[in-house]
This record gives sequence, structure tokens and C-alpha cells, in this order.
Amino acid sequence: MSAGRKALVLHGPADTIAGSGEFARAVRAGLCASPKRLPCCYFYDAAGSRLFEEICALPEYYLTRAEREILLREARAFAGTFSGPVMLAELGSGSAAKTRILIDAFLRRGPLRYAPVDISRSALAESSRALLNEYPELQITSVAGTYEDGLRYLRRTGGEHKVVAWLGSSAGNLERDEAARFLRRVAEAAAPRGRLLLGLDLRKDERVLLRAYDDAQGVTARFNRNLLARINRELGGRFDLSAFRHRAVYRREAGRIEMHLVSTHAQQVRIDALGLTVRFAAGETIHTENSYKYSLPEIETLARDAGLRLMASWLDREQRFSLNVLA
Ligand code: AVJ
Repeated sequence: MSAGRKALVLHGPADTIAGSGEFARAVRAGLCASPKRLPCCYFYDAAGSRLFEEICALPEYYLTRAEREILLREARAFAGTFSGPVMLAELGSGSAAKTRILIDAFLRRGPLRYAPVDISRSALAESSRALLNEYPELQITSVAGTYEDGLRYLRRTGGEHKVVAWLGSSAGNLERDEAARFLRRVAEAAAPRGRLLLGLDLRKDERVLLRAYDDAQGVTARFNRNLLARINRELGGRFDLSAFRHRAVYRREAGRIEMHLVSTHAQQVRIDALGLTVRFAAGETIHTENSYKYSLPEIETLARDAGLRLMASWLDREQRFSLNVLA
């Protein structure tokens, strides 16, 4: 067996995000702003990562299943277009459930190194351990940190063909112009022969989108409120979670789902570690996430703005989701 085999774990500067005061600073800035907001990267502590895995299994959350369907159909042929050793980096790898399809496909054709990048150290450690057990021939270098830490690593590692997977429509969290700028930098870091595998959710009927982001079991609501629970846990916050409602809104023109937490009544919330008291009016919201949806022309524009060539756009049978190859 592979007892004793370990994944090399590199800790980015942002690894201990809460410990280093980053989380505290972001919470202070976001809750003192008008309108109030919190950055969505802080969803993913250990509890939030588990809730996100639950979301991925929900009947309403079609994204994960649709992307999986595309990977199962296309991964083998895609992997077959590479010769020589390959390094597969993954931005926001989480549990790396879908990644196994890619790893299987690449290992059929030769040596593979896998470099997952994730902000959740617990999710990263768990998934790396499981992968090492399942794939005795796989090398893993995991990066615990932000996308920036991932880019830094990608730039300085060398040799192999670099394939960067950014799946699950995680790019949808960025503004469209930010996504293009970031993709350009990913491509530079993966040069000279890099390929990007980009999963993007497609624009579609508003009702389907709203169900996906406001599910019947209330898992997404718990995921959203976990931000407040995390403030309570890590910063001595006094949020009453039952005093904030989950709200998902679709802005059709912008093509994005927004998630908010809505204060059910006028209230003041103390956050001990910040020495801060935050006032909420009845109905006031904290904006916690944007999730941009793309049309096919918008994907072409994104590629062009990133200075990249869109080599393929694969869709699931129901045409809900896209997996794109960029070079
Ligand atoms: C992980 C950012 C792709 O936007 O669909 C799921 C996060 N938010 N349900 C998404 C999320 C609410 C997810 N991403």
C-alpha cells in the first residue's frame, strides 16, 4: 500500500487567513461599508466546505452533475491530446470529486502530477490523503492558500505540460472583466504550452437559477449564514443566526445571481474581537456573493478579453453548463 506516502503541502501566506487578521480586516471593512458586504471566499472554512459539498448533491443544484456529465464524455479525448509528463493544477479543488475523472484520463496516458489549490486547508488535506490512497502512481503538490498563492506556485514550477482546471463555475464569483484579467495571468503562469479547462454556468431560465441558489432543504441558506456563524466562532461575534434570512436574486441584465443575508428587524450586533458594534435596519442586507452566468457569445468575449483562444466549448445534454478549453 501507499503507507507513508505524503502529499507535499505548500502553505501560502494566506493559509491561516483568520489567524493572520485577513478575515478580521475583511469583516470590518465589509460591515462598515454601505451597502454591507462580505467576500465570498470566507464561506469555505471546514463547516462551509462541508455545506458546499451538500449543495453539490442537491437535486436543484444542477451545476455539479452537468459538469460531471461533460467530463465523463470528454476527459479521455482531451487528455489524449497531450504528450509527455503533465501537471494538472486545480484552482479551488475542494473535495476534488470531479477531478478524479480528469486524473483517471491523464494517468491512462502517462505520468501525472496534481497540484490542487484551495483556501480550505481541511478540505485540501482530506482530498489529498484520499487521492494518494486511490492513486499509488500520482504525485501531489498541494497549495493551501488563495488563487494568488496558486499562481505564484504555477509560475515557478516547471518542466511539464501545465493544464489548469478552474471548474464548477468558480470564475463566476469574479466580475466579468476581473475574470478576463485573471485568466490572462493564469495563462501567463502556465506558459508556454499551457491549457485552461474552464467550467462556466450558462445563462438560463430565472426559475431554474433561483431554485439552484435557494433550495427546498435550506442547505444554501445554511451555507450563506455560515459566514455569520464563522464570525461568531472566530471573531467573538454575537450574531443571532435566526435574525438573518437567506435571499437569492437574479439580475437578468448583469446575468448574475446575488446572495444576500437580510436582517429580519432593526438590530445591533457586537463583534468582540473587532471592538465593533454593527447596526442593521429592518430589511437591510449583507451582499455575500455574485455568481455570474455566461452566454456562448459572452464566453467568446471572455476568452478574447483574456487574450486566449477558445479551442472548445462543451455543453451537457440539457445545455445548462459549459466546459471550455482555452489556450
Ligand atoms: C463555488 C462559486 C461556483 O456560485 O454556484 C453555491 C457557490 N453559492 N451555492 C456558485 C455557491 C451558492 C458556487 N461556486
